[in-house]
Amino acid sequence: MSSPDPRAVADVLLLDAGAKQTLEAARSLGRAGLRLTLAECRDPTGGPRPPAFWSRWARATTFFPDFGQSPDEFAAAVLDWVTETRTAVVLPASDQSIASLRPMRSKIEEHTSLAMASEAALGIAADKRETLRIASQLGIAVPRTAVVSRVDEVPAAMAEIGYPAVIKPRSSWTRESGGERLISSAVLNEHEAMEAVAVLEGSGAQALVQQLLRGRREGLSLFRAEGKVVGEFAHFSLRTTPMLGGACVVRESMSMPRDSRRAAVSLIEAIGLEGYSHVEFRCDAEGHPLLMEVNARLSGSIELASRSGVDFPLMVWQWATGAPVRGAVSYRTGVRLRWLTGDGRWLLETLRGPGRPDGVPRGRAIGTFARDFTRRSAYDFLDLSDPLPAAAELGRVLYKAGSNLVQRSRQRELVVAGDRAKPRSDGQK
Ligand SMILES: Nc1ncnc2c1ncn2[C@@H]1O[C@H](COP(=O)(O)OP(=O)(O)OP(=O)(O)O)[C@@H](O)[C@H]1O
Ligand SMILES: [Mg+2]
Repeated sequence: MSSPDPRAVADVLLLDAGAKQTLEAARSLGRAGLRLTLAECRDPTGGPRPPAFWSRWARATTFFPDFGQSPDEFAAAVLDWVTETRTAVVLPASDQSIASLRPMRSKIEEHTSLAMASEAALGIAADKRETLRIASQLGIAVPRTAVVSRVDEVPAAMAEIGYPAVIKPRSSWTRESGGERLISSAVLNEHEAMEAVAVLEGSGAQALVQQLLRGRREGLSLFRAEGKVVGEFAHFSLRTTPMLGGACVVRESMSMPRDSRRAAVSLIEAIGLEGYSHVEFRCDAEGHPLLMEVNARLSGSIELASRSGVDFPLMVWQWATGAPVRGAVSYRTGVRLRWLTGDGRWLLETLRGPGRPDGVPRGRAIGTFARDFTRRSAYDFLDLSDPLPAAAELGRVLYKAGSNLVQRSRQRELVVAGDRAKPRSDGQK
């Protein structure tokens, strides 16, 4: 970590600079004239700096200890930072940073305003089982779900849910398990289900087994301040990477669906969520939306919201500083945003496993990927008034591709060397 300059003044310390939503927050808050410091966890491989560090709005940048390795050190570093500098607001943007900061929030809040939902609300939103339980009580449609703690419970749960199914962690990340964030996966048979549950069990996470839904993925972004929804935006996403349960790759703004809005608002009211939240639904074969989860943090969709006319990061700033929140509820529909790196990943994944749930035939995948260049669309990272992050993203992709190639050729060399060293069956060396 670079040591904080005690004279430094920042309006906002943006954590999770590697997340796309942080870049968008930096651009929105920077355009509003705020002074920003951006922080990311230390990359143990010493790879390229996150694209957001290159933003014209990043007045200062720093690295903190990795929350995947030590959430306590990460939280302590944030506390040190706000103790030694004058920072008005700290804005975390990932499940991991929020979970890491929670035990230390009261100490941090002695020095700054932490833009996070209340403890009680976070406790529920971080727990998908609890969220679904409350939603069911409110009469909101949810997928058929069973809870599994051990691999030997899989057959009984699958008999209830049926194949194909989705296995997901009850919480995407906990301080206790650390490491990488856990994600949902689709399973087609008992072998895959057992494997997926074993991975979660190994990370100390309880698993939810759910019916697989194949319909449209809809996301509602809501901003609630003093009990009122003052900002809202809806989008649907056409592709994600990983193919199921991953980040949105191509998404489009749509008019607010009334039924889902009613469900989402009643849910965040029941949970007591204030500030920004993102409520995800997925439709079943009949087109009825079922609740997936609530993310009580900035989501990847805020850039699309901004481009459509709803500036959520600015609302977060106003809310966190106690100023009146100037909301927005009307926006342009049909605005498209494409994350090209993610779409490339989606294409590769689809070509490798076209028969997986949410996969499409290879020819169609190539056609869709190519055709989308002819559609009017904005691209993640690309902003002509702030061009360096897009260049840095390109550099990062090339760096990663190069490192993968080097790694693969080393592995090949090791295999060849190993084969040479093996005694031959005819007794010759
Ligand atoms: N049962 C399911 N059937 C079909 N798709 C699903 C199912 N569960 C999850 N998904 C897909 O995966 C996405 C993410 O899943 P989920 O919300 O449970 O996990 P998450 O890892 O917390 O996601 P996020 O990164 O949005 O926080 C959903 O929005 C949906 O598109
Ligand atoms: Mg989530």
